[in-house]
Amino acid sequence: MAGVKRLGLIGHPVGHSQSPSLFAARFERLGRDDLTYEAFDLPDISSFPAWSQANPDVVGLNVTVPHKSAVMSYLQNLGAEAEQIGAVNTLVRTPEGWVGHNTDAWGFRRSIQPFLKNTHERALVLGTGGSAAAVIWALRNVGIEAAAVSRSGRSSEGKLHAGVPVIGYDELNPALIQHHLLVVHCTPVGMSPNTEGMVAFPTTNLGAGHLVVDLVYSPPETRLLREAHAQGAVVLNGQDMLRLQAERAWEIWSEAGV
Ligand SMILES: NC(=O)c1ccc[n+]([C@@H]2O[C@H](COP(=O)([O-])OP(=O)(O)OC[C@H]3O[C@@H](n4cnc5c(N)ncnc54)[C@H](OP(=O)(O)O)[C@@H]3O)[C@@H](O)[C@H]2O)c1
Repeated sequence: MAGVKRLGLIGHPVGHSQSPSLFAARFERLGRDDLTYEAFDLPDISSFPAWSQANPDVVGLNVTVPHKSAVMSYLQNLGAEAEQIGAVNTLVRTPEGWVGHNTDAWGFRRSIQPFLKNTHERALVLGTGGSAAAVIWALRNVGIEAAAVSRSGRSSEGKLHAGVPVIGYDELNPALIQHHLLVVHCTPVGMSPNTEGMVAFPTTNLGAGHLVVDLVYSPPETRLLREAHAQGAVVLNGQDMLRLQAERAWEIWSEAGV
């Protein structure tokens, strides 16, 4: 169809992504039959420049695992947040080249806002990947101190922003967990189809004062959230964040004239 603008998602794999149906519903609501949103499976990010050249009608992209950091070397420019976080999840094509933004931090912050209390002064962030970097950046921005938890323990220090302490799962103990009333799970463990998977977090140390957020949204209740809920913690899955980061991506594309 003439005049169609293509949007989409790059990553690997992308088959299970909810983004195409989320955006199709949005375009229908807005009466935008000039827009499409597709999932593009790109196993190797080094093919991005050639892929981009072969698809000049793609005007905006979301970026997912495993390319959120690696794609940055192919971009012309970065938004301030993306630069500080060190990962992008939204791209806009401009005449000069691709510009990268990070809307995960924005989506995460907005999603937890209704659940935050004054007692949530310190957070344990499980994982040290792109989503952990966005979450830690967002938490620091609202004055919440965060420490990351990694399978490789303190040797992962320096992988995230300057000054973020990293500890191992074997260092988690009841006193430490009681001292951190916000826990954010930022690994793919427990995602469908491996729904019985869970990181080595001792959920029996959680209690009613804890807020436990899992960025995973499929299944809606991961084993981590189920166990945390059973301990009396308030729990939140990644569904709201997913919706909100997409909303912010749409704002960025709209501001760019899509
Ligand atoms: N709701 C949303 O809108 C939203 C947005 C972004 C991401 N997510 C979800 O968040 C999750 C993480 O995303 P990401 O991009 O940060 O992923 P990632 O970069 O692939 O992995 C994050 C971290 O998880 C840890 N990890 C990986 N495999 C593990 C395992 N088998 N056991 C324990 N830890 C493991 C690793 O940290 P260590 O090696 O240091 O342990 C890794 O750095 C995914 O499920 C993604 O779908 C959701």
